[in-house]
Amino acid sequence: MAEEFRGMPCRRVGNSGLFVSVVGLGMWKWGDPVYDGSRIGDHEGFEVLDRSLELGVFHWDTACSYNLASGNSERLLGRYFASRPRSVREQVVMATKIHNPVRPEHAMDADFTPNQLGASRTYIHFGVDKCLERMQTDYIDLLYLHQSGTDDEGDYRVPIEETWGAFDDLVTQGKVRYLAVSNHSAKQMANVAATLEKVGKDVSRRIVAVQNRYNLVQQDALASEAGGRAADFLKAAARAEVGVIPYYPLASGLLTGRYRKGRLDDASGRIIDDGDQAEFLTEPYLKAVEGLLAVAEAKGISLAQLAIAWLLANEQVPSVIAGVTALRHLEDNVKAAGVQLTDDEMARIDETVDAALAG
Ligand SMILES: NC(=O)c1ccc[n+]([C@@H]2O[C@H](COP(=O)([O-])OP(=O)(O)OC[C@H]3O[C@@H](n4cnc5c(N)ncnc54)[C@H](OP(=O)(O)O)[C@@H]3O)[C@@H](O)[C@H]2O)c1
Repeated sequence: MAEEFRGMPCRRVGNSGLFVSVVGLGMWKWGDPVYDGSRIGDHEGFEVLDRSLELGVFHWDTACSYNLASGNSERLLGRYFASRPRSVREQVVMATKIHNPVRPEHAMDADFTPNQLGASRTYIHFGVDKCLERMQTDYIDLLYLHQSGTDDEGDYRVPIEETWGAFDDLVTQGKVRYLAVSNHSAKQMANVAATLEKVGKDVSRRIVAVQNRYNLVQQDALASEAGGRAADFLKAAARAEVGVIPYYPLASGLLTGRYRKGRLDDASGRIIDDGDQAEFLTEPYLKAVEGLLAVAEAKGISLAQLAIAWLLANEQVPSVIAGVTALRHLEDNVKAAGVQLTDDEMARIDETVDAALAG
């Protein structure tokens, strides 16, 4: 029998015992909008979190450093968990990420010593204790190393054995349940796996997920290295039995149909507010959106649902954590869990994207 929670299908993360809801919740732009450039604060945020659980969306993704290194996405979660019964925290698979520095609360101009960021034992232990404090919880379900921790030459700034020895200790201490990496190439992922085999307490200490950029119009970004191909990365992740959790699954909001060719003057949203037009509102991407909207319309679904369902069509993707900054986004995205794309629709999607990106 397929696993589900409140009607929401669930999948295992890689070859681990951890289940996540196939539709998850991305919380990058959550925090204190007055101070930190985030887009949703406590008031609407708590409503979205309550509704998420009602809809079976229990995989929530944040990072310690989101929104100007403020730590405010985690602090919002902390206030939420503290205001709800303990059973709420127990239902959530809480994922966060460590590596980047985080300012003390309200200290937006604080600076950092080299020990207050990165992948050293000092920062990993200190940083995780701070994550727990901000989120008002005593464990993290899924902890990512947010960056590979390499310099421009590809060398590790901290001995990789030190980094993963510290992660392994966190599992032993019960502060972290599962380990993962983000913004890692296939080779970097393999290095981590090999290191954990050496320094991990036992064979259960391994990475269960990789979180890289991946969406319909930026497929090869998944490889997280120049010239890398999504197909090769997916094969490497499958061999390593690591789940692939895409970030930017909606290309920052482009794959929702709110930014349309010839109608950009009327468009609003984070791509414009963050000044990311040059990256996302390109001629080929906007052409792809027009073609994909036609496929979505023919199926009677939204473009966001199509973009999420396309990612979920790959069994290696346990969950899609689209960023939600309004309740209506959640209500829309959650329906992707019930969308099955046919072979013909998948082929039409491929042709549409290939043709648009070919120019
Ligand atoms: N590991 C990493 O380095 C990394 C990097 C980036 C993100 N992430 C994680 O991945 C998550 C997802 O990525 P993301 O949030 O950056 O980008 P995304 O999911 O591609 O796009 C999110 C944006 O799309 C818009 N949106 C979402 N659902 C919508 C709907 N149904 N209808 C209309 N608009 C909708 C919202 O835009 P508006 O806010 O403009 O309304 C939202 O901010 C993040 O929240 C974060 O947890 C990780």
